[in-house]
Amino acid sequence: MSGIIVAIDGPAASGKSTTARRVARRLGYSHLNSGLLYRTIAWLGLRDGWIDDANRFSCELEDLRITMERRPPGFVIRVNGEIPGEALAASRISLRASHVAARADVRERVLDILRAAGMDGGVACDGRDIGTIVFPGAALKIFLVASAEERARRRLEEHGIEPDRERLELEMIRLRERDARDSERDLAPLRRAPDAIEIDTTRLTPDEVVDDIVVLAVERGARVVDDICDSV
Ligand code: CDP
Repeated sequence: MSGIIVAIDGPAASGKSTTARRVARRLGYSHLNSGLLYRTIAWLGLRDGWIDDANRFSCELEDLRITMERRPPGFVIRVNGEIPGEALAASRISLRASHVAARADVRERVLDILRAAGMDGGVACDGRDIGTIVFPGAALKIFLVASAEERARRRLEEHGIEPDRERLELEMIRLRERDARDSERDLAPLRRAPDAIEIDTTRLTPDEVVDDIVVLAVERGARVVDDICDSV
C-alpha cells in the first residue's frame, strides 16, 4: 500500500470517525480508528474484571495480543483472537476508554500498534494525538471542531435516541467532561498540531467536510479512486 497519511484529530463526537472512514473510501485508503484501541482495552478490562485493579492492569495489558489487520476500507482489530463487537460504542465504554487512555503503558502500547498499522501510508487515522504524537510527519493534518450542542445531538442520533432538551443537556455534560479529561491530561493531550487545518463542522454536512479534506489530500499527492460520496 502506498499513499499519504491523513491525520484527523478533534474532541469527542466532532465527526472524526465518520469523516475518516469516508475520506479513506474516496482515496482507496484504510480508516485507522485509534479510539477503538482504547475502547477495546477498556471493554476487555471491564469484562474480565481488571480495569480497576491497579496491580493486575499492567500485567494483563502486557499479556494482551492486539492485532490490526489492514482490510480496506478499514482495519480489523483482534484482541487475544477475539473481534470486539458493537459493545465498543456504548457510552460507558467511551468514559472508561478516556480513563485508560491517560495511562502511560496503554499509550505506549497503542502508539506502537498504530505506527505499525500506518507504516506504509494510505491511511486516514483519527483520534486525539494523531497529528501531534502518532504521525507528526503526516502530509495532511485536520483538526475538527463543532459546538457542544451539535456534537451532543450527533452522538444521540448515532445511538438512535431522540435529542430532546433534557437528553441534549445531559450528553453535553458527558462530552465536556470527557473533553476536559482528554485535554488536561499530561500524556498526549488533545491538541491541535500547529500545522493542522481546523474545520468547524457545526453547520457543514458530512459530505461537505469530506469534500474539503479530499481536495486538500489531492493537493498533497493523494488520488481519488471513488468519486461517489457515499453515506456509509
Ligand atoms: O468517537 P469519540 O470521539 O467519542 O471517541 P473515540 O475517538 O472512540 O475515543 C475514545 C477515548 O479514547 C477518548 O475520549 C480519548 O480519551 C481516548 N483517545 C485518546 O486518548 N487518543 C486517541 N488518539 C484516540 C482516543
